[in-house]
Amino acid sequence: MNDKKVLVTGGAGFLGSFLVEILQAKGARVYAPRSAEFDLRRADHVDGLFVTFQPEIVIHAAALGGGIRFMQQNPGRLFYDNIMMNTLVLEKSRLYGVEKFVGVGTVCSYPKFTPVPFKEQDLWNGYPEETNAPYGLAKKMMLAQSQAYRAQYGFNGIHLLLVNLYGPRDKFHAENSHVIPGLIRKCHAAARQRLDRITCWGDGSATREFLYVADAAQAIVMATERFAKSEPVNIGSGSEIAIEELVRLIARLTGFKGEIEWDGASPNGQPRRRLDITRAAEEFGFRAQTGLEEGLRQTVAWYEQNVGMSLAVR
Ligand SMILES: NC(=O)c1ccc[n+]([C@@H]2O[C@H](COP(=O)([O-])OP(=O)(O)OC[C@H]3O[C@@H](n4cnc5c(N)ncnc54)[C@H](OP(=O)(O)O)[C@@H]3O)[C@@H](O)[C@H]2O)c1
Repeated sequence: MNDKKVLVTGGAGFLGSFLVEILQAKGARVYAPRSAEFDLRRADHVDGLFVTFQPEIVIHAAALGGGIRFMQQNPGRLFYDNIMMNTLVLEKSRLYGVEKFVGVGTVCSYPKFTPVPFKEQDLWNGYPEETNAPYGLAKKMMLAQSQAYRAQYGFNGIHLLLVNLYGPRDKFHAENSHVIPGLIRKCHAAARQRLDRITCWGDGSATREFLYVADAAQAIVMATERFAKSEPVNIGSGSEIAIEELVRLIARLTGFKGEIEWDGASPNGQPRRRLDITRAAEEFGFRAQTGLEEGLRQTVAWYEQNVGMSLAVR
């Protein structure tokens, strides 16, 4: 990485900001453009970006995403923005002679009923969970494009399938937060206001796997340095937790002692999620370092210092 020109799209985002820090510490010359300057849905802007910076490596972390509520309300935007950004950034990476392209993909690309743990070879065996499908399918086309470019042009693109992330600097707003920041906001506010109950989406039975954001960034940098094959690679912690247990854990860490009610009318999302993480360990030696409780403690501490006092319960 030393002295390499690395473009990190979405480098000002949650995951991107950790990527930028690791790459800079390795001596890379990192460029992290904002959407206001270069809108990656526009071919002329993407051209401008590559002409301006002339990257040797591209880590494409820019995306439109969000929690289940945002996914339900924005299927059209999620499909269009992501497929346009991915297609253009990958195509321009090829045309401008980039040495390596790293596609940041998602667990949402997996079929709704994938056998647990999810293995990379099962990725194409069914349609994704409906709420996630526009986002997950747009991401999956980036994998297909990357594989096609390796086959036809010998272009060095790789694709990583990330599980749900959490950690400091996440989005905690009610409208677009993922499950962990959403629960931290809710439990923290309820504890502060001494509420006797909170209501959570679904029935608590769905399971999820979570990866601490700094570990995810480390995995992406390791794959960038050491992995050069067309097969996708799962990036996760390998541990699964039921949402009900997760809520209890976050309630404990935020000091909320009231009752937890479930809104069974709202969706659970995909029933179970846990990745087989063998390939990442074997191919480039990645293993998550941060346990869920430790990661949540750090996230709650960051939230309390940076956000918590300004938001109300919703
Ligand atoms: N968070 C998760 O749990 C999770 C799980 C699996 C995979 N991922 C993937 O990890 C990556 C990072 O996710 P994140 O949670 O860190 O997202 P994030 O905080 O929302 O950051 C996404 C970034 O994408 C940029 N972006 C969005 N639309 C753009 C556009 N039209 N043109 C240029 N840039 C645009 C934004 O730039 P500006 O800030 O300048 O607008 C933003 O900084 C994404 O590819 C996501 O799909 C995330």
